[in-house]
Amino acid sequence: MRIDILTILPQLLESPFSASIMQRAQDKGHLELHIHNIRDYSTNKHKNVDDYQYGGGAGMVMSIEPIAAIIEKLKSERQYDEIIYMTPDGEILEQAHCNALSLSENLMILCGHYKGVDERIREHYITKEISIGSYVLSGGELAAAVLVDGIARLIPGVLNDETSALTDSFQDNLLSPPVYTRPPEFNGWKVPEVLISGDFSKIEQWREEQALKRTRERRPDLLEE
Ligand code: ADE
Repeated sequence: MRIDILTILPQLLESPFSASIMQRAQDKGHLELHIHNIRDYSTNKHKNVDDYQYGGGAGMVMSIEPIAAIIEKLKSERQYDEIIYMTPDGEILEQAHCNALSLSENLMILCGHYKGVDERIREHYITKEISIGSYVLSGGELAAAVLVDGIARLIPGVLNDETSALTDSFQDNLLSPPVYTRPPEFNGWKVPEVLISGDFSKIEQWREEQALKRTRERRPDLLEE
């Protein structure tokens, strides 16, 4: 999969993509990330990428020209499955979005700033608008990093244990059961007996019960869907 990210702060995206799963996805050739600095496409002499909003009011708006220029250039080179705008007024990101987007060949992600982008960009180029939650970040970069992480780990071949993404919380609308590792006892705190019993059907049953219990207690909304 190829993902092109359009940003005015490329340095914000460097570290999240250079460690762990995201680095591994790139090293293994499953993910190709291209970060584009919108400022490089500004044609005015001060390299401005924003301007005052029509109608007045506080806050700058990201200008249409440099963003249109880069989107047009990229679109002339390949077809994009989605051109995504990260914005607090988008659809709230869910596992289902990550699952669907992980099957894409080419994605483009635009990170917003200031008061947002000129609405004509959204009308004419953007095919999907995503929010990572009901709060306002200072820019779309961290939201884009969250989205790309959620997608990258689902690309076939990225995770070592192919089944591990299938047992994630949310994949079956259930939260994950508790997990334990050695030692079997610490400070008198014991690992549940069943997990050391070696009886795999009992273990499976216990995990299902725990997942259901945890979901009922913490996210009952998931069980109503
Ligand atoms: N940009 C600013 N806040 C955001 C949010 N909550 N989700 C996505 N993009 C954003």
